[in-house]
Amino acid sequence: MAKTQHQFVCQECGAWYSKWNGKCETCGAWNSMVEEAITQHESVRHRKKDLTTFFSTLENSDNDSPLDRSRVLTHITEFDRVCGGGLVPGSVILVGGDPGIGKSTLLLQVVAELSKNSICAYVSGEEALTQLRLRAERLRVNKAAVHMAASTQLHDILEALKNLADLKLAIIDSIQTMSVSTIESAAGTVSQVRACTQELIAAAKKQGYVVILVGHVTKEGVIAGPRVLEHMVDTVLYFEGERNYDYRILRSVKNRFGATDEIGVFAMGDQGLTEVSNPSELFLANHQNEVSGTAIFAGIEGTRPILLEIQALVAPSYLASPRRTAVGWDSNRLSMILAVLEARCGLSFGNRDIYLNVAGGLKITEPAADLAVAAALISALKNKPVPNSSIYFGEIGLTGEVRPVSHSELRLKEAEKLGFTQAYCATISSRKGTIKGSVNTHILKYVLELI
Ligand code: TYD
Ligand code: MG
Repeated sequence: MAKTQHQFVCQECGAWYSKWNGKCETCGAWNSMVEEAITQHESVRHRKKDLTTFFSTLENSDNDSPLDRSRVLTHITEFDRVCGGGLVPGSVILVGGDPGIGKSTLLLQVVAELSKNSICAYVSGEEALTQLRLRAERLRVNKAAVHMAASTQLHDILEALKNLADLKLAIIDSIQTMSVSTIESAAGTVSQVRACTQELIAAAKKQGYVVILVGHVTKEGVIAGPRVLEHMVDTVLYFEGERNYDYRILRSVKNRFGATDEIGVFAMGDQGLTEVSNPSELFLANHQNEVSGTAIFAGIEGTRPILLEIQALVAPSYLASPRRTAVGWDSNRLSMILAVLEARCGLSFGNRDIYLNVAGGLKITEPAADLAVAAALISALKNKPVPNSSIYFGEIGLTGEVRPVSHSELRLKEAEKLGFTQAYCATISSRKGTIKGSVNTHILKYVLELI
């Protein structure tokens, strides 16, 4: 017999209580509790089971599940790279991002490409079939052999997927629109999202197909039904971009089968997304030499080097406490670099407004950008352009020392490829001895040497 239980679930962290509270005691969120009813069917837990084959070995066995060990390549290279070199059969990938950023567009293109040689399904709970067809027409993929459906009933979807023999990839757009009938609460609540995800994970593991879930993000930029979902899936990707720019970045923040912080770069056009295989060229497109206050940073995103332009502006201030504004970079880090430049290099930024911008709208988190920021600031202050065709990378410590950073060789190679001839950087620790190449490296020990 089925019995219905009522509980109050925090929509922030998923903790549940038997009574309503104004504040969740687990995560401290206010007013986040929603009553959810859960119908539990009589448990079969106490049935006697044969547990002699409970444990197994690490070695592969002949009667392994249908999980094939080779990865499924979608042949959209940027997408495959972010997933760690293709999709792992039986895995579940969550793609989050702001509404309208292009998640459905990207996944429709992925599924269309893969359907050329594998069985794929795309289930939308957000759009009707006619809308999906219109989009497919616009993307010129309307001839692709994708199994399309519009549904929000997860049990129907799972049953239909079971009937697709040799299914390789199923896309669920979006997890917040799906619901199972065993839970009474509305689609999108933590209980529904969790239950649907659990069932999808189980089906994917059992039948060996890949599931890609689309997840909405909340105002705070986390996937709704937050951590709960991110913990359950194998891979979490975020699709992000600035509305004013037409490029989009797919970033992996969790990956059980590959590196995190890997990025894929796409450009949104009127026929959907196209891959950008050399992002440095895109980001440096409007770079002008011989202008003071700019320096090129040779950065690393995941495993790939990217050159970015750092711009600084130092202007007289008429405010009691001058402005310090950083776009695309941590403003605390900016304050630290300014303090180091003042205390260790004798420069004075007092009474001046300071603006720092990473051109192109990308966000940098690497401390290796310190040196490029310092170079841009010094150049802006002195109103002198940095040396022609030069790049910068290195972390700056509080004593003003320049510390080595990882992947120096990759950074230098990318700079060489794009025609840069000078590099100002920290000591390079190379496992292969000296680095060959046409870039002239200036090794700095202290940031003072920049001046
Ligand atoms: P969509 O994939 O619907 O976003 P999401 O699923 O993340 O909510 O993307 C919609 C946006 O993309 C919309 O603003 C229009 C734009 N777009 C293009 O610029 N070109 C195209 O070819 C397509 C299909 C969409
Ligand atoms: Mg969508």
